[in-house]
Amino acid sequence: MPPFRIRPKVNINASLAVPGDKSITHRSVILSALAEGPSVVDGYLDGDDCRRSIEAFRACGIEIKKEKDKLYIKGCGSQGLEAPKAPVDAGNSGTTIRLLSGVFSGRDFTVKIFGDESLSKRPMKRVIEPLTQMGAEITAANGQYPPLTIKGSSQLRVIDYRMPVASAQVKSAILLAGLQAKGITSVSEPGASRDHTERMLEYLGAKVRVEGNTVSVEGGVKLKAKDISVPGDFSSAAFFIVAGLLAKNSVISIENVGVNTRRTGLVDALREMGANIELKGNKLVCNEPVGTVVAKSSALKGISLDPELVPKLIDEIPLLVLAATQASGITVITGASELRVKESDRIKAISTELKKMGANITEQPDGFIIEGPTRLKGAEVESYNDHRIAMTMAVAGLCADGETLINNPECVDISFPNFWELISGL
Ligand code: S3P
Repeated sequence: MPPFRIRPKVNINASLAVPGDKSITHRSVILSALAEGPSVVDGYLDGDDCRRSIEAFRACGIEIKKEKDKLYIKGCGSQGLEAPKAPVDAGNSGTTIRLLSGVFSGRDFTVKIFGDESLSKRPMKRVIEPLTQMGAEITAANGQYPPLTIKGSSQLRVIDYRMPVASAQVKSAILLAGLQAKGITSVSEPGASRDHTERMLEYLGAKVRVEGNTVSVEGGVKLKAKDISVPGDFSSAAFFIVAGLLAKNSVISIENVGVNTRRTGLVDALREMGANIELKGNKLVCNEPVGTVVAKSSALKGISLDPELVPKLIDEIPLLVLAATQASGITVITGASELRVKESDRIKAISTELKKMGANITEQPDGFIIEGPTRLKGAEVESYNDHRIAMTMAVAGLCADGETLINNPECVDISFPNFWELISGL
């Protein structure tokens, strides 16, 4: 795809919907495949990451049909997966490789999972360690990077595991393995990461217990296939929330968005900065809170971000940095070193690219110091083939002087395939 060109916009008055939640789509595919019987997943995300999870289960013999925005999945029950005939390609998807490692750990077969250049550099020890303690045999490049070769076992042991970093992917991998072990598996994390796995497990009839940041699951309980409706992805809505705040004289409303409080830390942080954001019509759909988000142009001020919020806005930190460049005063973000091991080193990527537009940002090992407000100037910027960097730079272009050119913009297909159309249409 050629570079995407974007010019500043003001007076935006838009109401829109964003594609299905990426995390919830992965979990819908995985848990529906493992449940007994057929189910329909409505509003799923047809992005590259989720297609990797779909293809992986097809390779295990699960019938998954796509029709418009629905998936028709024939669940195989707890013992039904076949060994894939070829190595599984997780592409760019950390969620696919980590969650499937948990699933495959409980099967009596060996499977290899690999990924693209970015995924091949992402740390896997965090799943290898607990899954090995449970009885899986896992080998990895240099003991820690993909490809992973997993020799599973139907005789997994339960564990009571304390995770060193808050990570929904690691927590979910352990819970998915625990579902196949005999007895109760518990996992505790140092912060409150997204809880979509535990919510969906509960929705499908698993025995799950949550106490603070500890989740336990009972093994051997059958999941009942049930239809799932996937809400819009808050992380995708976030680009338009920040666009609405930063563009002059604007209102942007996004309907049918997941507003799980483990995901909406960005709203908490932006409100503390003075943002006018409303969350309306909150209801529970398939055990997930869903509502409408309305963002209006706001004058922002700098804050010191509470590090406890970090897991609740981990994917939105590049956007928060952009918002901070437009806020008066200093914003300090700490406790975010996990950003260095995402699809790109997001601390380096977003600092480098926003500085090309004139922002005043000092990179820290685990975060940023940002001094604002700075009038951004249009520039030619890079995406690092990282969807969230590409989209954050597009929002920066919306509130900069002149034209911004984003190279390698096609990576948005990972989580938000129609992003360029939507942002052009504002
Ligand atoms: C995800 C968890 C987070 C997040 C990622 C999706 C998930 O990763 O950054 O985009 O679906 O569980 P970590 O578990 O590495 O924090």
